[in-house]
Amino acid sequence: MSTTFISGGTVVSATGRGAADVLIDGERIVALLEPGTTVLGSDLAATADTVIDATGKYVIPGGIDAHTHMSMPFGGTNASDTFETGTRAAAWGGTTTIVDFAVQKFGERLEDSLATWHAMAGGECAVDYAFHQIVGDVNSASLSAIRGLQDEGITSFKLFMAYPGVFYSDDAQILRAMQVSADTGLLTMMHAENGPAIDVLVEQLLAQGKTDPYYHGVARAWQLEEEATHRAIMLAQLTGAPLYVVHVSAKQAVAQLAAARDQGQNVYGETCPQYLYLSLEDQLGAPGFEGAKWVCSTPLRSKHEHHQDEVWQALRTNDLQMVSTDHCPFCMKGQKDMGIGDFSKIPNGIGSVEHRMDLMYQGVVSGKITLERWVEITSTTPARMFGMYGRKGVLAPGADADIVVYDPNGHTSIGLEKTHHMNLDYSAWEGFEIDGHVDTVLSRGKVIVDDGQYLGRKGDGRFVHRALSQYLI
Ligand code: URP
Ligand code: ZN
Ligand code: ZN
Ligand code: ZN
Repeated sequence: MSTTFISGGTVVSATGRGAADVLIDGERIVALLEPGTTVLGSDLAATADTVIDATGKYVIPGGIDAHTHMSMPFGGTNASDTFETGTRAAAWGGTTTIVDFAVQKFGERLEDSLATWHAMAGGECAVDYAFHQIVGDVNSASLSAIRGLQDEGITSFKLFMAYPGVFYSDDAQILRAMQVSADTGLLTMMHAENGPAIDVLVEQLLAQGKTDPYYHGVARAWQLEEEATHRAIMLAQLTGAPLYVVHVSAKQAVAQLAAARDQGQNVYGETCPQYLYLSLEDQLGAPGFEGAKWVCSTPLRSKHEHHQDEVWQALRTNDLQMVSTDHCPFCMKGQKDMGIGDFSKIPNGIGSVEHRMDLMYQGVVSGKITLERWVEITSTTPARMFGMYGRKGVLAPGADADIVVYDPNGHTSIGLEKTHHMNLDYSAWEGFEIDGHVDTVLSRGKVIVDDGQYLGRKGDGRFVHRALSQYLI
């Protein structure tokens, strides 16, 4: 086994920071040492096989993006990043674990959908990966298959209150699935938007000739996110299911989660970078068809309603626990452009897997969150929430050596197409100037990115068999 020594950096965890050197043997961390520590009289920097100088830099646990959709079939096409390209882009951005969604389509056996996802991801990934299960067809067979998921290392499943005719579950189906969630301890993840109501508004807007991407945001009104969030919370309350609401964008939905948490309910929420930085007017409302770049669900919200401030605040106060990307990229050419003349045909999704760590670091730069909270919402909480903590989400002896050396004095400009590594013909983040830079990335002890060079290999990423959530009250 080879040893790696990261010296001179400031190790940052969810609970503090301090000068420390990190010693790695093979795939795992063996010790965090006071700078200058010698072992049997010898200087570790002189004896380790690989030495990484982290002077002036932060040393943090690798990012965990708990919401990605590699190759996801959606809107008549597939998300443009495969497990190969998407996990490579993740690595470039300091994310060393993704949790992707295995998609059960309507009419498909749950077990078959999971097998399909293993076949797609196996041997392809640059970093470690785990799965949630999308249950797109809640029936007696899939309900009983959910009970077998924990043995497969899958401890969370997603239901949709949106997309009637595709992934949608009605209240009766949600209730039944939540009963299984309560019974097994598997976390219910919810796409909380009132799909049937949205579909009526979509039809009416299109009939009025309102076909531009902007109207995607109008149809998916915040009231329909708040209502669905409330309904999901009530059904979870009734059944005792632990609930995690994905891609929260509306401040009113945040308030619903906060109120339920104040009552002691096991409800949690994530948001995504797009809801913290982008808006209905500036992005979805861009001239012509440009707004299609930012069509995602839940949608970008109006800047005049001040959702972003509230979502940042919720991240600070733990009303929202973490940030995932909901990485679901579609190219403008040949994919998004299917919706020219009809916004409802634009495949929903934004690609951000490469930028999450950088984008969230800007919250540290602007004083919205602390350095420790940055690590917590991007790595430590995702690990705990989804049953990977100890191995992931922390720098400690015994943990996987998934490590990012982050340079606070570095700078990243997100420019046109080729300044990123996602399989995407545009960037939703074009023009963003990032303070900070992902310098070096280790995945289980192996350096996979080193200042501008990719050294990883497809297939080195392994499936992570997850335990039940370590976050529940
Ligand atoms: O627009 C989105 N969010 N696309 C991905 C599917 C989902 O609902 O998460
Ligand atoms: Zn969703
Ligand atoms: Zn998603
Ligand atoms: Zn650098």
